[in-house]
Amino acid sequence: MPSTVALSVARYRPEMESEPTFQTYEVPFRKDWVVLDALNHVKDSLDGSLSYRWSCRMGVCGSCGMKVNGTPKLTCATFLSDYMPGPIRVEPLDYFPVVRDLVVDLTDFVRKLKQVKPWIIRKEEKPPSEGEYLQTPEQLDAYKQFSMCINCMLCYSACPIYGLEPGFIGPAAIALAQRYNMDSRDQGAAERLNILSEHDGIWQCTFVGECTKVCPKHVDPAGAIQQYKLTSATHWVKSLLLPWGTR
Ligand code: FES
Repeated sequence: MPSTVALSVARYRPEMESEPTFQTYEVPFRKDWVVLDALNHVKDSLDGSLSYRWSCRMGVCGSCGMKVNGTPKLTCATFLSDYMPGPIRVEPLDYFPVVRDLVVDLTDFVRKLKQVKPWIIRKEEKPPSEGEYLQTPEQLDAYKQFSMCINCMLCYSACPIYGLEPGFIGPAAIALAQRYNMDSRDQGAAERLNILSEHDGIWQCTFVGECTKVCPKHVDPAGAIQQYKLTSATHWVKSLLLPWGTR
């Protein structure tokens, strides 16, 4: 194995250039280094002006998402050794405005996430003196998979529909809506269904399935969207047959 690898990194400094460019850095190759280690080496030893996001370095915070050789990845969980002998191309996630270098603006996602009300909705809260809302292990299992989402945005960057139709509410927001719909403590599924049945909601998805392939947490957003489509269609048929009450 070579002792170094070429890291070709997208740069965009809005005060200096009108278009992104690539800058190549020769970084040490170590078997236990991930792409984020290589970026940290660049920042610490070669070029302190490079901007990117990271925090936990353990696949939990979701902030280190970038494209590595064209595929959306968590850079803290992507080993250099998988791309040897290089070069390794690192770029910002697709479909989000680039703020600087590898940092993208997530305002669109945050706005969409809020729309689907990703919190427990209760028609009536019981008083604290009555204790917690208990769940069985089976009830927990029903939504646990969707609760693993870390908002890393890899699924948006992989979704060609989001690329073509920026109004599409997107895979993570739908998976997180489903996380609460399937929670036995929640009573807000009908509210969320109204939001997600709109034009920019679930029906935009053509089930390409790339979102599920790139998800580092195996959340399966594509599966959530298909579940939602079924629920929405069933709700619509019931509303035709039983117009006096479909809840
Ligand atoms: Fe937190 Fe990669 S740094 S997920």
